[in-house]
Formats: sequence, C-alpha cells, structure tokens
Amino acid sequence: MGYLPPELQPTDLLASALRRAATRSELWDRLPVEGLESLRGWFAREVGRGAVFTPNDVIIYPGGQAAIASTFRALVPPGRPVLVETPTYTGAISAARAAGLELIPVPMDEHGAQPGLLADAFRRTGARVFYSQPTFSNPSGAVMPATRRAAILAAVEEARAFVIEDDWARDFDLANAAPEPLAATDRDGHVIYIRSLAKSAAPALRVAAVMARGAALARLKAMRGCDDFFVSGPLQAAALSAVTAPAWRRHLQKARAALVERRDTLVSALKSELGDRIAFRVPQGGMHLWIRLPDHISDTGLAAEMARRGVVVGPGRAWFPADPDGSFLRLTFAGTTATLVEGAKRLGGAIRKES
Ligand SMILES: Cc1ncc(COP(=O)(O)O)c(C=O)c1O
Repeated sequence: MGYLPPELQPTDLLASALRRAATRSELWDRLPVEGLESLRGWFAREVGRGAVFTPNDVIIYPGGQAAIASTFRALVPPGRPVLVETPTYTGAISAARAAGLELIPVPMDEHGAQPGLLADAFRRTGARVFYSQPTFSNPSGAVMPATRRAAILAAVEEARAFVIEDDWARDFDLANAAPEPLAATDRDGHVIYIRSLAKSAAPALRVAAVMARGAALARLKAMRGCDDFFVSGPLQAAALSAVTAPAWRRHLQKARAALVERRDTLVSALKSELGDRIAFRVPQGGMHLWIRLPDHISDTGLAAEMARRGVVVGPGRAWFPADPDGSFLRLTFAGTTATLVEGAKRLGGAIRKES
C-alpha cells in the first residue's frame, strides 16, 4: 500500500549508514529545528537546474505526512478553506480535516487540476493555499504538462496564494519524462515544495523536507518548533549518507525497473481478466493504478468482497474530498508479479460476478 515492498528496499545501504551515524556523538545532541545543514543542502539541490532554494530555505520533517499536516497548520487558520485536487491523497484530506480546514475540491482532467477552475475557486472562496500533486498524482497518476504548470502557477500568483507541491513520486518517474517541479520555475516564493525519502527508500526512513521562502518559511519554522523540535540526528545523517552513496542510484534504477515490470504485469492481467468492463490510464510513474468501475458496482462493497478473497484494494471514495463522481478502486502495483497476477484474477472473478 504505497511504499516499496521489503525486497525493493535498500536495507543493507540504510543499515550501514545508520550504524556509522549512530557512533557520532554530536548527532545525539540537540539539533536546530530546521535540521542538518548538509541534508538541507542535498534536498535543495534535488529541485533541479534553477536552484531556486538554498539550504536555508529547507526544513527537515519526520516524513511527508508530518510535512503536509504541519504546513497546513502553519499556513491556514482553523475554519478557513484549503483548495485540493479531486481526487487527492487521503492523508492530505485527513490532515486538513484534523486542522479544522474547509476542503474545497478543484476538478482535474487527465492533465491534472484545471487552471480556470482553480482561479474560480480562489476567487469564490478567498482561499490562500492549494495542495497539489502535479507529478504522478496519487491516486489518478495524472501529470501536469509544462504548459499546464505555467497556467497553474499564474493562477496561484494572481490570487497571491501558495501552492503546496507534494512531489511524492519524483524518484518513480518510470518513463524518465516528468516535467520539472513547479518549484523549479517559481521566482516569487509561491511554491512550498515537499519531498520525502520514505517512498524512495523504506517507510521507516522518516525523513522529508519542506522548502519555502519569505514569510511562509518563517511560519513553517515556528510551527516545526511547536510540533516536535527536530528529527533524530542519526536518522538525518544516515539518510544523507544513503542518498549520496553510489549504491543509491543503483537502488533507484532497480526499483524503477521492477515497478515498470510490475505495472505492465498488472495492466495486462487486468485487460485479459476484465477487458473493457473497467477503464484506466496506464500511469507513467508512482505505484498506483486508478480504475473506474461500472457505475452499478459499489467501491466499498467490492473492496470488502476483495478483502474476503484475500486481496487489499482501496475503495475510491477515500480519495475524494467531497462526493465522488463515479465508482473507483485504487490498486497498487508495487507487489511481486505473481501476487499481482493472482490479485487480478480474484478481482476479475469478483467484478464478473457483479456484471
Ligand atoms: C501523495 C503522498 N504524499 C505524502 C505521503 C506521505 O508519505 P510519508 O509520510 O511516508 O513520506 C504519501 C504516503 O502515502 C502520499 O501518497
């Protein structure tokens, strides 16, 4: 469910990095809230060619979920609206609800959020923050092309607002064709950029970064100090030593190759089991397949039936901030090919029974 499975995690690399870091006594001391400067520098350079962020614009968090939740609380007062794509990441929906925010859905097409509708939503609600996944959106897999990105950024600038760019699947760009992040072209500090290492390495590498500038950065730092002071020093140092080792690139290449094979296996198994009973786009990155069911099939009913058949699938409504516009399932293709073929077979049986 949303992370690399154990056989694709770089366990040896992480273990040796953590063993080395654990012997450095200075890392066990109290650290600055924003995290280790060397790790902040690495995250800043990852944003790409434009090098819009310096290490001073980066704050380290214990994972992407903490980063999203803390950013919402730092930037949007309780009771105020926050704009989100629909469908969007369940963890962002629950973090916004827990912060007492009003979720305003912005419709998407196959190229992500629609700029005209985003501009309308800003005008109508007075919202100042938009949470977005421009690249391999979880769950739909949508990617905003470069022209769409420029229009989205223009709408955000026009509203004098911020976009929180959750770039969760940057390392799983399976066709090596993802456009650069919105953050790389943002000159005026409208983009707050989130990257996590938990997806790229292993779920327990609780290390992520939020990059921002100006007043937003100051508010994020203040909130970070209220939340939990700082991420454990040995973990931060181990993360840096893992991602800068030559074995890191090899790990990512291996994980991407496996995800391509696993995605293609699931896609062909579903096509042969179900033909055009279901509809989906083949995602070019990430690890999820978003499928549309025939309208008469309930997503929650089918997910419960699949659980009885020993298969975990996500009922689509969990990814909608308001009423879903159809019946959907989210499948994850990170598992082994044998599991995926068997899962597709059982899903085929359950859907054919309902048709
Ligand atoms: C889109 C998206 N953002 C953020 C996260 C948070 O992940 P983590 O806290 O492990 O970095 C997830 C995890 O499922 C996700 O799917």
